[in-house]
Amino acid sequence: MKTLSSNDLDEVAHTLIEIAREAAALIHAGWRTGVEIEHKGAIDLVTRFDRASEDLLRARFRERLPGFDVVAEESGGAPSGERPVLWADPLDGTTNFAHGHPFFCVSIGLLDGATPLAAAVVAPALSVEYRAARGSGAWRNGVACAVSRTATLRESMLATGFPYDSHTCDENNLREFCALTRRTQGVRRCGSAALDLCLTAEGTYDAYWEAKLKPWDVAAGALVVLEAGGALSDLEGNPVDVRAGSLLASNGRVHDAVLRALREVRGAPQITV
Ligand code: IPD
Ligand code: CA
Ligand code: CA
Repeated sequence: MKTLSSNDLDEVAHTLIEIAREAAALIHAGWRTGVEIEHKGAIDLVTRFDRASEDLLRARFRERLPGFDVVAEESGGAPSGERPVLWADPLDGTTNFAHGHPFFCVSIGLLDGATPLAAAVVAPALSVEYRAARGSGAWRNGVACAVSRTATLRESMLATGFPYDSHTCDENNLREFCALTRRTQGVRRCGSAALDLCLTAEGTYDAYWEAKLKPWDVAAGALVVLEAGGALSDLEGNPVDVRAGSLLASNGRVHDAVLRALREVRGAPQITV
């Protein structure tokens, strides 16, 4: 496949946002309609809107972006290794969606291996959308967005999330959550990794961390953060492969302070009750 120029990537990002808008309208129509909830795990939910959104995304990718591989949450897929991959989450924040909470979105990120190239995130109940293309900036509702300039944890608002196995696994993020809650102005837990990253990119959150994620949760939001001037690492501070599932995203200025706090609690007893 030919190397994609900045212009090509910008065009792909515009196409992705159009596709994501259409899927977002579909799920929005089902929100707060008493939709039946199915369980993929004890607390891991899915609805017919997750599946319908994914079917629509796949159909549009076939029509408009046939040169890329596709991996999507509900029906899977495998990267061929020969083409960039569209990692799609047809409904990020299903638990929120199922309970009538407005914090959910459609998230699509194009990655070449681990390198983020283009991104679209659309949250219909919040009337907000984010787009990014490598080298061309990050955009919130069509206006350029940038990370915050907050320099200390004391002045910061952070975000995180908890894994679906937190009821049964001791690596549950609770001690990290407590430690950072005590050192900041607050740690939010709003239930959509893609939107948590975008709110970091727009400067609402100063940093966001989470473990045990999937590539489709972060492929789009990671690029929005980078293009908004933010920093990414794994939870130890090493360069991150966004497909790996654990990451810290920040405005850059509070990055080391968050890493230090995460490191300090790592040896502490887990909170399991
Ligand atoms: C979930 C959300 C949540 C995060 C979970 C994800 P889903 O995605 O992004 O914020 O904490 O780890 O799996 O299941 O709603 O698509
Ligand atoms: Ca998700
Ligand atoms: Ca999902």
